[in-house]
Amino acid sequence: MIMRTFPKVILALIILCFSNNKILSHAADTLSPNQTLSGDQTIVSSGGNFELGFFSPGKSSNYYIGIWYGKITEKTVIWVANREAPISDKNSAQLKISDGNLMLVNESQIEVWSTGLGATDSRSSASAVLLDDGNLVLRQGLGSNSSSPALNLWESYNNPSHTWMPGAKIGYNKITKKKQILTSWKNSEDPAPGLFTLEPDLNKSQYVIRRNNSEQYWASGAWAGVVFSGVPEMRTALKNGYNFTYVDNENESYYMYTIRDPSIISRQIMDVSGQVKQLLWVGNSWNVYWSVPKQCEVPAYCGEFGVCTEPSFPFCSCLRGFKHRFEDEWELNDFSAGCVREDALECGDADRRKDEFMMSPGMGLPQYSRLLRVKSRGECESACSSECSCTAYAYDEGGCSLWDGGILNLQWVGEGNSSGRTIYIRLSAYSSVFRGQKSDKGVIIGAAVGCSVVALVMLTVLAELWKRWRRSVETNKVVEGSLVAFKYKDLQNVTKNFSDKLGGGGFGSVYRGTLPNSTVVAVKKLESVNQGEKQFRAEVGTIGTIQHVNLVRLLGLCREGEKQLLVYEYLQNGSLDLHLFKVDESKVLEWSTRYQIALGIARGLVYLHEKCRDCIIHCDIKPENILLDADFCPKVGDFGLAKLIGRDFSRVLTTMRGTRGYLAPEWLSGVAITTKADVYSYGMLLFELVSGRRNTDLSADDTANFFPSLAATVTVNGGDILGLLDPSLEGDADEEEVSTICKVACWCVQDDEHMRPSMSRVVQILEGVVAVSSPPIPQGLKVLLAARPEQLLFFIDSSTTAN
Ligand SMILES: *[C@@H]1O[C@H](CO)[C@@H](O)[C@H](O)[C@H]1NC(C)=O
Ligand SMILES: *[C@@H]1O[C@H](CO)[C@@H](O)[C@H](O)[C@H]1NC(C)=O
Ligand SMILES: *[C@@H]1O[C@H](CO)[C@@H](O)[C@H](O)[C@H]1NC(C)=O
Ligand SMILES: *[C@@H]1O[C@H](CO)[C@@H](O)[C@H](O)[C@H]1NC(C)=O
Ligand SMILES: *[C@@H]1O[C@H](CO)[C@@H](O)[C@H](O)[C@H]1NC(C)=O
Ligand SMILES: *[C@@H]1O[C@H](CO)[C@@H](O)[C@H](O)[C@H]1NC(C)=O
Ligand SMILES: *[C@@H]1O[C@H](CO)[C@@H](O)[C@H](O)[C@H]1NC(C)=O
Ligand SMILES: *[C@@H]1O[C@H](CO)[C@@H](O)[C@H](O)[C@H]1NC(C)=O
Repeated sequence: MIMRTFPKVILALIILCFSNNKILSHAADTLSPNQTLSGDQTIVSSGGNFELGFFSPGKSSNYYIGIWYGKITEKTVIWVANREAPISDKNSAQLKISDGNLMLVNESQIEVWSTGLGATDSRSSASAVLLDDGNLVLRQGLGSNSSSPALNLWESYNNPSHTWMPGAKIGYNKITKKKQILTSWKNSEDPAPGLFTLEPDLNKSQYVIRRNNSEQYWASGAWAGVVFSGVPEMRTALKNGYNFTYVDNENESYYMYTIRDPSIISRQIMDVSGQVKQLLWVGNSWNVYWSVPKQCEVPAYCGEFGVCTEPSFPFCSCLRGFKHRFEDEWELNDFSAGCVREDALECGDADRRKDEFMMSPGMGLPQYSRLLRVKSRGECESACSSECSCTAYAYDEGGCSLWDGGILNLQWVGEGNSSGRTIYIRLSAYSSVFRGQKSDKGVIIGAAVGCSVVALVMLTVLAELWKRWRRSVETNKVVEGSLVAFKYKDLQNVTKNFSDKLGGGGFGSVYRGTLPNSTVVAVKKLESVNQGEKQFRAEVGTIGTIQHVNLVRLLGLCREGEKQLLVYEYLQNGSLDLHLFKVDESKVLEWSTRYQIALGIARGLVYLHEKCRDCIIHCDIKPENILLDADFCPKVGDFGLAKLIGRDFSRVLTTMRGTRGYLAPEWLSGVAITTKADVYSYGMLLFELVSGRRNTDLSADDTANFFPSLAATVTVNGGDILGLLDPSLEGDADEEEVSTICKVACWCVQDDEHMRPSMSRVVQILEGVVAVSSPPIPQGLKVLLAARPEQLLFFIDSSTTAN
């Protein structure tokens, strides 16, 4: 009883307090001429979708007027008024209507931001309304009961900051000559205009991204009727309920997108990374739906002497012998200032040693400053050496490329990559890079000293790593699109000392945990502790950048000595096998749910196979690796932990993975594994979705009853399709859909991988965009059909040799 009345008393007190306040008495959606807004006051749109007020981003002590989502857990700002003019005391600053303008005044009552409309008496009744789509509108005639309709004088949608909301136009007004431009934040904690802008290209009907108001490095391509030609991702979005409009008439040209389902929360941003990202709020976080261009294609992203590596977390690092120019900016993901030398060059100082060159192989090289014809690398090196302005050279086949000054756009592509070249970077001969490597340090420096120098260097490196590690753990901050570094001790607490085991995957056990903010997570303890730091970082870096509605999201990591843990989002309904092969038949997965699960998995795989920066072959598709959220939306888990395969699909996996019963025949023949191996496993899984039992479940009298064989025969030769169905569904299914799934499954498990469809084809079929033709019975299934049970088991078991 007390518990129930208590909040009401508080509420009453609050109402009492505020009702005395002449400033802004309640969460209205309007700021009227006689009202002001300051401190923690906000205005809230009528449906509660958006809120406007003062905010300070991250750890910043600056305050800004902004609009953020009202109904999601993560404070996400979509618009900022005073981007360039922060205020330091939100309690004495005021947002108000003054002379028909919306205006922000700072502590000294001096205007720092305004809607900037010319002063006129006729606008005296203007007021600001926050609409439920996130648009802030300065309106005339609202509230007064005049016969004339409200007139919009100014809209935040027409003056965007870095976010492009559904329903907002980005374009060019041919009458006012005003362009809408999205400008990135300076860094994740400073909304001041950053380097990158997305804007319409007035000459062609396209959109471009520029850096620093000059260099254009990405273009959408011309409008092609329904989408922009350079953004194929838009076609997928089209199918998922996005609607794109491009209008060009005598008054204006603009582009706009809308989302048919109003419950979908999505926004597009010009990110500090220099990429345009379409983000989707799913579960409890923002997911990248698509982004353009690739990170390392953003010019000068890592600054002078910075090196971009893709995929990697973080993307930028410094060349050896260099350090971050500004540590704070670097920490906030603003890499543009780049790196500086640890030791100044000696060039020009006659008393000192000459500079030396450090060899850096496996690099993607930017445009050189000068090109010389020389006969040897030595000549090339002397040419660079002889001029103090020359900072690096590269030599091949008679060509000597020289770079002057700070080098931009270096990319590390890996030493095995054929496009990788070797660049020689000029460094001070005293640089630590050469210490311990060179033998010309003089006679005094003997082996013992050499060793201790190496030890010292290693200690310094370790200390630096330790410092960085501690810093990252202490700040424990989440930057959009990146991972949280957890302390082992924290994860121990979070999981109650690893007491609630959810399961054991191929790579280690998974435990349930609850973060202090009450987010439930799944913590995976990796068991292969012999894994190197490099491999761990590579894995985690890759997985961290992969975000898709149908892929389990990685939230964070922990690496302390031998302890390697990954923190994933927790999915309420566990893995698919628990629902599909359940003995308890009280809660059967309905057919429509199964169909959606099939489609969802296919979409997740399309993303892994085709949309990631590097193609990822999952290698272990099976019901245990498909997780289901509260709405039974499927998410593929455990990806990226297997080997990463280059886009040319040519490398053979050195370590084989996979589970018998789902393994494609090529795993046994030893040829190169391609994404088609996943297609095969997916096909086998489809059969299980239909039958509700494991393909490998064979009792003694089940001769010739290997379900995939049976299903293939019925599908191809005709027969009772619904008879194939899981008996617990009691025939309650769409026959057309069952038939489609069986046909797709048959195509997927063809022996010849070239006959199997790609996963994007599968998605098109399941979405009903293209029809599926009748498949041949796969040879492998024919063999099984004729086989005796012993042979059948042998066939299935023989795949274990691959493990
Ligand atoms: C605003 O204040 C002025 C003077 O205090 C008053 O004359 C006017 O009626 C007020 N307007 C509204 C809409 O309350
Ligand atoms: C208010 O803004 C003005 C102009 O930008 C500035 O000169 C003044 O210092 C600011 N006052 C405070 C207290 O920040
Ligand atoms: C506006 O005027 C109409 C008639 O002119 C009246 O019926 C209505 O109640 C008025 N609304 C308000 C909010 O005053
Ligand atoms: C594109 O338009 C700009 C003005 O917006 C103009 O300066 C430029 O010359 C045009 N370029 C071409 C190729 O037409
Ligand atoms: C941006 O351009 C301005 C002027 O063109 C230049 O001074 C500045 O250094 C540039 N900034 C960066 C980060 O490239
Ligand atoms: C897309 O939006 C345009 C403009 O709002 C509208 O005319 C069209 O009907 C929409 N298309 C779909 C498929 O919703
Ligand atoms: C352009 O603006 C004029 C004047 O406002 C209007 O009459 C005309 O219909 C507009 N044209 C289009 C295509 O909207
Ligand atoms: C080589 O590097 C380029 C640039 O990063 C990349 O696109 C390509 O896929 C790489 N090739 C291989 C075989 O790794």
